[in-house]
Amino acid sequence: MSNKVIFKKKIKNFNKKISVPGDKSLSIRWVLISSISDGVSKAQNLLKSDDVLAAIQAIRKLGVKVIFKNNICKIYGVGINGFNYKKNIVIDAKNSGTLGRLILGLLIDTTAPIKIIGDKSLSKRDFVRITKPLSKFGANFKVSNNFSLPLTIKGSQNLKAISFHENKGSAQCKSSIIFGGMKASGKTIIKAKKSRDHTELLLKYLKLPIKIQKRKKFDLIKVNKVKKINPLNYNIPSDISSSAFFIALTVLSKKSEITIKNVNVNPSRVGMLTMLKKMGVKINLIKKKIYKGELVSDILVKSPKNLKSINCPSKLNSSAIDEFLLIFLIAAKAKGISSFKNLGELDKKESPRLKWGSKILKMMGIKSVVKRNSIKIFGNPNLKINKKIVIKNYLKDHRIFMTSVIAALSFGGEWHIHDKDSIKTSFPSFLKILNKLQA
Ligand code: S3P
Repeated sequence: MSNKVIFKKKIKNFNKKISVPGDKSLSIRWVLISSISDGVSKAQNLLKSDDVLAAIQAIRKLGVKVIFKNNICKIYGVGINGFNYKKNIVIDAKNSGTLGRLILGLLIDTTAPIKIIGDKSLSKRDFVRITKPLSKFGANFKVSNNFSLPLTIKGSQNLKAISFHENKGSAQCKSSIIFGGMKASGKTIIKAKKSRDHTELLLKYLKLPIKIQKRKKFDLIKVNKVKKINPLNYNIPSDISSSAFFIALTVLSKKSEITIKNVNVNPSRVGMLTMLKKMGVKINLIKKKIYKGELVSDILVKSPKNLKSINCPSKLNSSAIDEFLLIFLIAAKAKGISSFKNLGELDKKESPRLKWGSKILKMMGIKSVVKRNSIKIFGNPNLKINKKIVIKNYLKDHRIFMTSVIAALSFGGEWHIHDKDSIKTSFPSFLKILNKLQA
């Protein structure tokens, strides 16, 4: 079967209510935390994607029983010290930075070496940001190519709390250290640049010994050694990063409207919505509620008549980090020059997304200037594409595939987009839901 899709037509007006699958960050965190809880945890609407299935596979290798049937996942937790550290365990994190990085925090007490491997994309990503703080706890690492996967972790039974300054704004890094802190004796203190705070909220909800002080530019997190975790039943809210494709499509279409139901709108994730409002888009969060510590709501978006350019404040970057490719597309249609700064982390994702963003814009006939970690996009409100565009990202980045599909349906032209299978990473039903809009 061909792994390429071809689009030759723009999408027609739509007015729909949709649901997208469960949040990826919450799904992986729920799997990992449930694995070390005392008892059986049950989740509904757990994201059934390769990244999450890899997390389930990983905890199974550590001796945890998991039953995932009919949209219900049951995890039989083994307790905080209950992993079965057999010899020669290899954990394949596949494409998932979240899994590869977070699980290392839980493995710092392994009594046998454990090898972590990943796919081509993950094996190019930085793991020093994890091995450095985890080594301070007392864990040891053998890293093959100096900075990335594959790597082998050798744990310690004499783990001591650490103080660490996380200055990249990486939630993966922060979460890995929090997990480490749960297993080390003493109080671990993390001064962390703002990033998504799902791990902290989950641990707080579970009444574990974690304290969070929110400051203007960073959070101060204090974690003590954990003795026991209660099991957690969770109905995973939908993923804002998956919703973002449909939000962008609505913004780039005419006279359309979409409601996306029950989405996790944690303030640390909604940077794209804030940017769009600044650009003149009407967005309403309806039926807001707090669910197990997380803010959840329906999102209603209407196509705007005009789009203004944006001079994006860098403080919004981390809360929109997975949405920038879409934001660049929207800036391409805005009136005026948009500018985004301090996007160094964007080139460290599943593929170098700042480079790819400007490459796609160029193919679309939109001028952009990339300087170090900044990009300026010269918008054209009348943009129409009449040529053939081929998108083939050699690292098979799921978000590049899906963003290209949104561009094709918004601007026209003939798009040949490769690596459809990449959507299995985060959003296997993406094309199916898209079809429903056109029905
Ligand atoms: C994630 C954090 C972000 C994000 C990734 C998921 C998480 O990465 O890009 O898709 O679940 O913690 P960083 O924390 O490395 O910025």
